[in-house]
Amino acid sequence: MIDTRLRRRRAILLGATGSVGQRFARLLEHHPWFELTTLCASERSTCRAYREVARWVQDAPIPERFAERRVESCAPDDHAWPAGDPPLVFSALDADVAGPLESAWAQRGALVVSNASSHRMTRGVPLVVPEVNPEHLELAPARGGRVLCNPNCTTIGLSLVLAPLVREFGVEAVQLTSLQAVSGAGLDGPSAFEMLGEVVPLITGEEEKLERETRVIFGECAGGVLRPRDAFVRATCTRVPVVDGHTLSISVRLTRPTDEPELCAALEGFRGLPQQLGLPSAPERPLRFLDDSDPPRPRRDAARFGGMTTILGRLRRRSAREWDLVALTHNTLRGAAGGALLLAELAVAREAGLDSASDARSPRAEPVQRLP
Ligand SMILES: NC(=O)c1ccc[n+]([C@@H]2O[C@H](COP(=O)([O-])OP(=O)(O)OC[C@H]3O[C@@H](n4cnc5c(N)ncnc54)[C@H](OP(=O)(O)O)[C@@H]3O)[C@@H](O)[C@H]2O)c1
Repeated sequence: MIDTRLRRRRAILLGATGSVGQRFARLLEHHPWFELTTLCASERSTCRAYREVARWVQDAPIPERFAERRVESCAPDDHAWPAGDPPLVFSALDADVAGPLESAWAQRGALVVSNASSHRMTRGVPLVVPEVNPEHLELAPARGGRVLCNPNCTTIGLSLVLAPLVREFGVEAVQLTSLQAVSGAGLDGPSAFEMLGEVVPLITGEEEKLERETRVIFGECAGGVLRPRDAFVRATCTRVPVVDGHTLSISVRLTRPTDEPELCAALEGFRGLPQQLGLPSAPERPLRFLDDSDPPRPRRDAARFGGMTTILGRLRRRSAREWDLVALTHNTLRGAAGGALLLAELAVAREAGLDSASDARSPRAEPVQRLP
């Protein structure tokens, strides 16, 4: 659904040369609402052609319309825009540098949508998975300069799986082991030589992020105040020699007992506000099972359904309240650039008043048929 209340927005990309920045460039090449006008990166890259400085690692060529653009500075003071028409800013910056730059853009009136962890725990900065907790957007003003944060890539996949379970059955505890792709570490992450035949059983800070961010995402938001829920996720995060796609092995203990058909119906029937509003980057279904005899595999499946659907498999009953399953999420699409784009679309739809107050709550699951 495209509404006449929406006007095309000028977008600026910070960190355009990196792994996530390159995904953004591809997704924004033909975006119906946003026009990517400016590509920014570090001093190393400024004043040089994008083609020359982006170490291109995508499986499709660099978009021709951006290839010869001069890369610009990330500082807002080096840019000008018409009065009253501040840009939409996507940040794919390293967390070491993102915080002050994102704040500076917001202070100059920009709507900033960030992938970095710098502001994820900042008061007044909503941490949102659009299908899961859109009501948390209330924590920031609906208009004007502000920062919105995309959660960590592993948190996003896990939150999508947990959302219908929390809603339909209640979730008491979650234990998870992640097998995370190399692209999650950015262009300066471990080399192919370092990763070949290897498993790295430590991703510094990742487990703490997962545990902290899920407390916020599943926390209660009322009257502009957020109350995080008690910790309920325990994680072990590992890096494996996979290019794209984080696989999660999840064990969950529910509050209410259930059976397999009801559990599958809740997961596959899960829809959120992005689907209700028909946002351009919203997948038709946020969660899908493949055939259980053929569970999801990153190389084959991570980019299916535009890389925006978390793919499920290997559902196993331990008891009526304890279930195990596997989930695969594309880390630079749903877990980063695609997720941030969906969040920006939701924020812009909200600015334009397309989401009524009643719509702004996460809708309940609608039962659908399981895939054959
Ligand atoms: N990769 C993923 O799957 C993933 C998923 C979710 C979230 N994230 C988050 O997204 C962000 C980007 O990740 P990435 O994997 O794309 O990292 P990356 O490949 O290392 O890219 C980092 C980007 O930041 C720019 N940059 C570095 N220092 C800068 C400075 N001082 N001033 C301005 N720009 C600077 C780099 O520009 P130059 O090329 O000019 O140095 C580059 O464009 C990180 O915060 C990361 O944690 C990543």
